[in-house]
Amino acid sequence: MKIAVTAANGQLGSSVVNELKKQIGKNNVIGIVRSPEKATHLGVEVRKGDYNNPNDFNTALSGIDRVLLISGMDDPQKRIQQHRNVIEAAKKNGVKKIVYTSIVGDEEKNAFSPVVQSNRLTEEDVKNSGLDWSIGRNGIYIEPDLEYIDTYIKEGEIRNCAGDGKCAYTSRVELGYAYTKMLIQDIHNNSTYNLVGDPISQKELVELINQVYNTQLLYNPISVDDYAKERKLELGEFIGAVITGIYKGINDGVYNIHSDYEKAAGRPFKSTIEMIKSFKYK
Ligand SMILES: NC(=O)c1ccc[n+]([C@@H]2O[C@H](COP(=O)([O-])OP(=O)(O)OC[C@H]3O[C@@H](n4cnc5c(N)ncnc54)[C@H](OP(=O)(O)O)[C@@H]3O)[C@@H](O)[C@H]2O)c1
Repeated sequence: MKIAVTAANGQLGSSVVNELKKQIGKNNVIGIVRSPEKATHLGVEVRKGDYNNPNDFNTALSGIDRVLLISGMDDPQKRIQQHRNVIEAAKKNGVKKIVYTSIVGDEEKNAFSPVVQSNRLTEEDVKNSGLDWSIGRNGIYIEPDLEYIDTYIKEGEIRNCAGDGKCAYTSRVELGYAYTKMLIQDIHNNSTYNLVGDPISQKELVELINQVYNTQLLYNPISVDDYAKERKLELGEFIGAVITGIYKGINDGVYNIHSDYEKAAGRPFKSTIEMIKSFKYK
């Protein structure tokens, strides 16, 4: 069975490729990337695939049995056609199964909603493709918070507009394991899974970070307006609004969801403290 992963050089793509190599052997794994020179570290056959170029995928998916479509990073409206380029090429090439990395979240309530809407449209395209399919909805990655640790330490706090809301985070390593199982095993066909861990509040997150990093950070909730202002100043209008939308979503309870991770992976999701430790000591 030959399995291809799109955007394979990205952090999520690399995590899935690494797990697939362990489970089906490197000769059965193909990494599809838009810049092949960025993918030599993968240690598998690499083919070219830019989401904007349908012809790339008509070639790249030749002889492939199953494909993991990793959602793109472009403007939400552009992503829909980009993903369709992969789905259409999969159909033409006789690919049997498509697995798609979607996202949890609300389709209407906040500035992150356009991204969620575009992911939902691709979910429909995948389901209507006529191929076997399986969809994972990724939670918010925990890694960016941990990559930000030096800033948090400098400021002595984590400050955002999530309030007491709970968020079921996920991690790319845990996702790599679940997507590998979803690609390999047929029991996941025609299923959509929330791929997340236990829901925790920002206060709980800060306590766990303090334990692992030996810090004394505080959690300080601020208003949505104040948070939007500071994020837009630091990250620009678009990304600032998207990040604010995510934290507003946490406050609204959008990410306080049940997990299907164990169904997908056949093992429980790591506890949050284990995720933080594996990030720190990786
Ligand atoms: N759940 C979350 O919290 C969260 C956060 C951020 C993103 N995401 C989503 O999760 C996906 C994977 O995340 P990640 O951590 O692996 O991101 P990442 O490390 O930034 O990787 C993004 C990947 O997308 C590829 N890509 C971008 N535009 C492309 C195009 N036109 N054609 C083909 N490949 C393209 C990049 O290729 P190059 O190296 O050539 O640029 C890279 O391989 C993202 O694409 C995004 O949809 C989720």
